[in-house]
Amino acid sequence: MKPIQVGLLGIGTVGSGVFNVLQRNQEEIRRRAGRGIEIAMVADLDVERARKVVGEGVQVVSDARAVIANPEIDIVIELIGGYGIAKALVLEAIAAGKHVVTANKALLAVHGTEIFAAASAKGVMVAFEAAVAGGIPIIKALREGLTANRIQWLAGIINGTTNFILSEMRDKGLDFAVVLKEAQRLGYAETDPTFDIEGVDAAHKATIMSAIAFGIPVQFDKAYVEGITQLSATDIKYAEQLGYRIKLLGITKRVDKGIELRVHPSLVPSKRLIANVEGAMNAVVVQGDAVGATLYYGKGAGSEPTASAVIADLVDITRLHTVDPLNRVPHLAFQPHTLDQAMSELPVLPMSEVVTSYYLRLRVADQAGVLAKVTGILAGAGISIDAVLQREADEVGGEGSTQTDLIILTHDTREGTMNDAIAQMQQLPTVLASITRIRKEELN
Ligand code: HSE
Repeated sequence: MKPIQVGLLGIGTVGSGVFNVLQRNQEEIRRRAGRGIEIAMVADLDVERARKVVGEGVQVVSDARAVIANPEIDIVIELIGGYGIAKALVLEAIAAGKHVVTANKALLAVHGTEIFAAASAKGVMVAFEAAVAGGIPIIKALREGLTANRIQWLAGIINGTTNFILSEMRDKGLDFAVVLKEAQRLGYAETDPTFDIEGVDAAHKATIMSAIAFGIPVQFDKAYVEGITQLSATDIKYAEQLGYRIKLLGITKRVDKGIELRVHPSLVPSKRLIANVEGAMNAVVVQGDAVGATLYYGKGAGSEPTASAVIADLVDITRLHTVDPLNRVPHLAFQPHTLDQAMSELPVLPMSEVVTSYYLRLRVADQAGVLAKVTGILAGAGISIDAVLQREADEVGGEGSTQTDLIILTHDTREGTMNDAIAQMQQLPTVLASITRIRKEELN
């Protein structure tokens, strides 16, 4: 049988990986897919660079629309990124009856509902394993492997750049800005790292996983997003002394009132496997009612790890494209006609309604009665304290210091209640600096 014909839009780092892995493993991939998979056409603004990667046997053009217009192409891979031209091209490819493979998490987290609806109406597939956690097959696991479960929550380290920075901050005791500069110099962080360090990239991925886990539409605009730019080496050190590591987690959880969807730095007990995921690696823990906790670990970015996910999607489409569209695996795991109903039943909760535990650090005057006032405010708000650590003043502010750090771990409380208590504590004249608050997740 003639190999399935693929058109590739954008042949940068990931696109080159796709081409190379498809070439290298073509025989095994053909035996798995039941048919060859061939990149027949590539579009890239840098035609010369593209030609260097693919050689002479593949048609190279600068106009992505020429790929979409080619009736021979069965599958279009979109590796351009962003919401602009990539969205237009994906929708045009769907309208032209092509199946689409994309690694574009931003596009799907924001416009996924429109894109999946267009694909369903046209009877084509949009596959996106590479959009979340790079080479880790987490979409497949959530959508198919765990399909028996009522998923309760998932939590992931789903941004390698920030995990690398946090690992370096912990290892070397350095502050965020210093490590970021070094990460940029080494090429681990982008020149404009905003999406990574502000938690936006992780929130895109958490949004997609949340939709698949709970059968709700993608709702990036409802996600709570907080990055790592305000974290200090001091808090990483104190957390460690209390038996925790600080990780940027993407969390989504089913609770009585709805769905939590949030990205923020979190204290995680050092003994959890996920707390020991270091450097640029990714990991996701999924808690299902039948299976319990499962953990997925691997490279969340890079040329061939991401290509591994893209090609898995190509194989899936090759196997399934002749199947009646109604009998294929739904894009978001749940049959689309049930999504509206699920959305009304399960709202994404505002952050003030989220219930979690907290790490608080207060720079206070080292005087009698300070601790009593602080704990009095927490008690008044009904917030239960789990542990308190007070540093020696000399250790914090040097010899003869009259200031010290008070670190408090709380039990679970509603975020809105904690906001009120922090505002009250901040008013105390003996609280000398802005209070640090980091959420704490036991993940058990
Ligand atoms: N920039 C991402 C990361 C990889 O650092 O993990 C692509 O989503």
